[in-house]
Amino acid sequence: MQIRKNMEMGKVILTGDRPTGKLHIGHYVGSLRRRVELQNTGEYDKIFIMIADAQALTDNADNPEKIRQNVIEVALDYLAAGLDPDKVNIFIQSAVPELTELAFYYMNLVSVARVQRNPTVKTEIEMRGFSGESIPAGFFCYPISQAADITLFHGTTVPAGEDQKPMIELTNEIVRRFNNMYGETLNECQVLLPENCVCMRLPGTDGKAKMSKSLDNCIYISESEKELKKKVNSMFTDPKHLTIESPGHLEGNCVFIDLDAFCEDSDFEKFLPEYKNLQEMKDHYTRGGLGDGTCKKFLFNVLNDRLEPMRQRRAKYEKDIEGVYDILRRGTEVARKVGMKTIEEVRHAMRIDYFDDKQLIAEQVKRFAEKKY
Ligand code: TRP
Repeated sequence: MQIRKNMEMGKVILTGDRPTGKLHIGHYVGSLRRRVELQNTGEYDKIFIMIADAQALTDNADNPEKIRQNVIEVALDYLAAGLDPDKVNIFIQSAVPELTELAFYYMNLVSVARVQRNPTVKTEIEMRGFSGESIPAGFFCYPISQAADITLFHGTTVPAGEDQKPMIELTNEIVRRFNNMYGETLNECQVLLPENCVCMRLPGTDGKAKMSKSLDNCIYISESEKELKKKVNSMFTDPKHLTIESPGHLEGNCVFIDLDAFCEDSDFEKFLPEYKNLQEMKDHYTRGGLGDGTCKKFLFNVLNDRLEPMRQRRAKYEKDIEGVYDILRRGTEVARKVGMKTIEEVRHAMRIDYFDDKQLIAEQVKRFAEKKY
């Protein structure tokens, strides 16, 4: 696969989140942590982080206020997690109308059947209880608009969770189709999944497959120390682990899954010096003799240690909300500038740049003069 066609653009990250709620630790290990690392490598020429409000509206059209409130929450979560507005452009999707235009052209390059096959959309339709005809057309087509999100910025790299893989495949299909039809204009991209596979999908605190606001099983990255303790203490572990002495099981055990995602060897020195590393702790748990209480206390300490600097950064930004909106405004301005340039290239390739094409008018004048209709 050819990742870069437009060499002048270099390596570009584009990714984002729907502002339907505060971000949780599943978002953090699934993508946010990686974005912060990538921003600090200095390897990327441009990094765009999009608050996907227009996509969020595709199944929340009746509740724009929810989206409006969560745009700032997500922005604060981004900044709290360590995204640095001097290194990344955080922007609001709906404020870049070029995205909508590009998505409209892409609609013609994808069949309904192709969108219907998208496994992520299938699951989401089921989860929302949409039945056949009641699926909003905009929601159904959001993977096409997502292709526009990535390609408008000539994105080469999309750090995201596994559920975004089908979107990237579709994006690359659209890119190939577009380039074949209209000439080389767009570049393909690559998804960057978490390296650690437990980070692909962190289960809810109740043991259910996914953290979700409606199930009330999330640990938010802005969680207070007190709430965090409560949530960790009520976490689903191993229902068969009835006494400290009985052997415990690791599969589906949220405490150990979260430890797999978050803990480092150095945490043992700090919080649980009986063990050198997670493997030793797991061995003791499965052998029997290690209680859930001790494990939960350790997990609380680890999570609290990770979340504390985020709480502090968030508190700082919460005192300057106007400044946060300014960050979004500036990021959006940069996004628009890049977007407008790509749209110009796209219109040119599609031969719909009527007013910029001096030759067109001259040709038409001649054609009509010669009556060559
Ligand atoms: N679909 C993503 C989510 O569910 C948000 C999103 C919109 C996105 N456009 C994107 C992610 C482009 C990566 C690339 O949160």
